[in-house]
Amino acid sequence: MLEKSVEYIKSKIKVNPEIAIILGSGLGDFVDTIENKFAINYEDIPGFPNSTVVGHSGKLIFGNVGDKFIVAMQGRIHYYEGQGIDKTVYPMKVLCELGIKKLIVTNASGGVNKSFKPSDIMLIKDHINYTGVNPLIGKNEDDKGPRFLDMTYTYSKELRDKAKEVAKNIDLDIKEGVYMWFTGPCYETPSEVKLAAIVGADAVGMSTVPEVIIARHRGVDVLGFSCITNMAAGILEQPLNHEEVIEVSNKIKDKFAQYVREVIKVI
Ligand code: HPA
Repeated sequence: MLEKSVEYIKSKIKVNPEIAIILGSGLGDFVDTIENKFAINYEDIPGFPNSTVVGHSGKLIFGNVGDKFIVAMQGRIHYYEGQGIDKTVYPMKVLCELGIKKLIVTNASGGVNKSFKPSDIMLIKDHINYTGVNPLIGKNEDDKGPRFLDMTYTYSKELRDKAKEVAKNIDLDIKEGVYMWFTGPCYETPSEVKLAAIVGADAVGMSTVPEVIIARHRGVDVLGFSCITNMAAGILEQPLNHEEVIEVSNKIKDKFAQYVREVIKVI
């Protein structure tokens, strides 16, 4: 099936994209800054799963950012949707087959590090996967990557250094930290957030890690950004609400999109 998906997409594009970007909550408008773009709907790609979130039909958007030809994934499948880990990472496997060399992942997350505030952008330095779920469980695809994948350099230092340089040049104060994956869909309890802080997490979220594992397995360099949309549960004396997450991501989307655009030009 994967081959059919890849074949269909290849029949629609002239050159293969060099960079893929997964647009998380708050970065959807990034696509407006892509030049010469054209979209392929997930539902038109044979075998491609679609997000079950109502009104969130996904698209692959191909086009240029500066002199780079990229593909943006608008709409990702979250593990909490219940379609299973294989469907969650299927789009990432397809993008890797298109020959991408670099992956930029973006997401919304809750701030665990008390020096963070909502609307901060955190460069992901590393991640923690304590969910017990891993997309590489099962027979190893030896032609794609090793059985026992080294995760020492998951988020490329070279790419992070470039991203920091860009932030400095445009006077953007970015944070850097560790992202911890929780499956969701409920938000974490205050005690889980305490645990996250103790084990070294700076932010918690419900996405990204499965796709990053697949990309690394296939030798793709990864850069990740997390938009801190709220302080994680229990950090402040107030409940979380999804509206706040949407509101904060809307507030910073232009700045975030502009920044990511500048980063793509130099990586
Ligand atoms: N927890 C998990 N995922 C999130 C959060 C959070 O606090 N905020 C945005 N996505």
